[in-house]
Amino acid sequence: MWLFSKHETKINNSTGDFFTKNKYCLRVIKLMDTFDAIKERRAVKHYDVNHKLTDEEVNQLLSLAVLSPTSFNIQNWRFVVVKDSEVRKQIRAAAWDQAQVTDASLLLVICADLKSWKDNPAQYWINAPKEAQKFLVPAMGPFYEGKEQLQRDEAMRSCGIAAQTIMLAAKAMGYDSNPMIGFDSDKVAEIIKLPENHIISMLIAVGKQTQPAMPRGGQLSLDKVVFTDKFS
Ligand SMILES: Cc1cc2nc3c(=O)[nH]c(=O)nc-3n(C[C@H](O)[C@H](O)[C@H](O)COP(=O)(O)O)c2cc1C
Repeated sequence: MWLFSKHETKINNSTGDFFTKNKYCLRVIKLMDTFDAIKERRAVKHYDVNHKLTDEEVNQLLSLAVLSPTSFNIQNWRFVVVKDSEVRKQIRAAAWDQAQVTDASLLLVICADLKSWKDNPAQYWINAPKEAQKFLVPAMGPFYEGKEQLQRDEAMRSCGIAAQTIMLAAKAMGYDSNPMIGFDSDKVAEIIKLPENHIISMLIAVGKQTQPAMPRGGQLSLDKVVFTDKFS
């Protein structure tokens, strides 16, 4: 797939080639194949401090993130885009001084709303067929009500899937990323003014690497992690 910037005029001729009318704004990016993005995504620690993601790129990443699946379509993730360099410094101080927090072009705090399931549940099925709405909307409350652990599990499930979506999309756009849980969650919650009934899942740094990741730490073989039918 080929991506053109907004300012370019693209003409698709019968052979499928693309051109721009103005040669000075030719910028064609070949997006990466999904398998390659999965293989090439690594946790990268060193970033170019001078590189900035454009607002369009950030918007693209987040627009892809919100296509991630959630149970009952509750869309419980919340994404804090940390733009203020002072806030970045405060988070870095609460995150074992990890340089990625301030150096990467983009820092996201991936959070979740533990109660999104009861915030007007009909909104999550507004476009579904009436029969599906009738079944799904009233099922959500009883499924989650009073089950605090389930609500938390759900938050972490949704955020984990969204995080991987962001990291793979970033890789496909030519960027690297680093998921992080090395931080004091209470301190970061205070810094970002995390609302009640919300939790933080992880931080993600995204940017241009200046040094590649270390060689993979050591992969378990499939026979250690894959079981057929039962564990024993
Ligand atoms: C939820 C999560 C939290 C992580 N936290 C940190 C962190 O705080 N700092 C860090 O340098 N790497 C962190 N990592 C990166 C892991 O160390 C890395 O993903 C793992 O070693 C596998 O390497 P790879 O991602 O390059 O394949 C984290 C990864 C995940 C998934």
